[in-house]
Amino acid sequence: MSNLAQKKHAPATNRNREPILDVLTNCLPDHGTILEIASGSGQHAVHFTRHLPGHYWLPSDPDKASRNSIRAWWWEIQLNNILPPLNIDATRDVWPVENSNLPLPITAIVCINMIHISPWAATIGLMKGAARILPEDGILYLYGPYKVDGNHTAPSNEAFDKDLRSRNEEWGIRDLNDVIALAGDHGLSFVKYIQMPANNLSVIFRKDPKGN
Ligand SMILES: C[S@@+](CC[C@H](N)C(=O)[O-])C[C@H]1O[C@@H](n2cnc3c(N)ncnc32)[C@H](O)[C@@H]1O
Repeated sequence: MSNLAQKKHAPATNRNREPILDVLTNCLPDHGTILEIASGSGQHAVHFTRHLPGHYWLPSDPDKASRNSIRAWWWEIQLNNILPPLNIDATRDVWPVENSNLPLPITAIVCINMIHISPWAATIGLMKGAARILPEDGILYLYGPYKVDGNHTAPSNEAFDKDLRSRNEEWGIRDLNDVIALAGDHGLSFVKYIQMPANNLSVIFRKDPKGN
């Protein structure tokens, strides 16, 4: 039994979950397990699980309190197609999901609001993990604020970037070109980006066929 008092509440998830779900509905492969990196509270996980009944949702977070929160949200909703949260730190060379038995193979990885609020090493680890785990044509979906061609897309993002860097010098809003180049180094082709509310972007990559 999970302790409901462990539920975390991230208010932004209630604002961005519908626009993100719209994009996911259009870009995810039509079957498979969706691995979520950096699930945080678990509010996205339960919402997307409920609205994507043909998929399994596999949440993860390296933070124990977040994993407890994910379990608490799951316990309240009681969904069959959400899997127990894993302790995945994107920077690790092997993620605990590799070589594990899943009800359906992983066909997509979703990572919301992690890249700007973790060291760049986490983004490198995310791309390496996606390269190891995704099948050909598998999807990597990212959501968050980005600079485009070196420029902030809004004054509020610039202020947010300053705040992030003052909290941790390794954090900060990334330039989309750097993320696209890094993904390309790991066999993930940029598909498109979509403007989202509050000056965020959805960014979609597709895993290249082997040998490309
Ligand atoms: C701002 S929260 C976003 C949580 C959730 N995706 C959301 O949008 O509400 C950032 C999350 O990134 C996770 N995180 C930080 N570094 C990470 C890493 N190296 N690997 C995986 N997750 C990481 C944190 O534990 C935290 O839950």
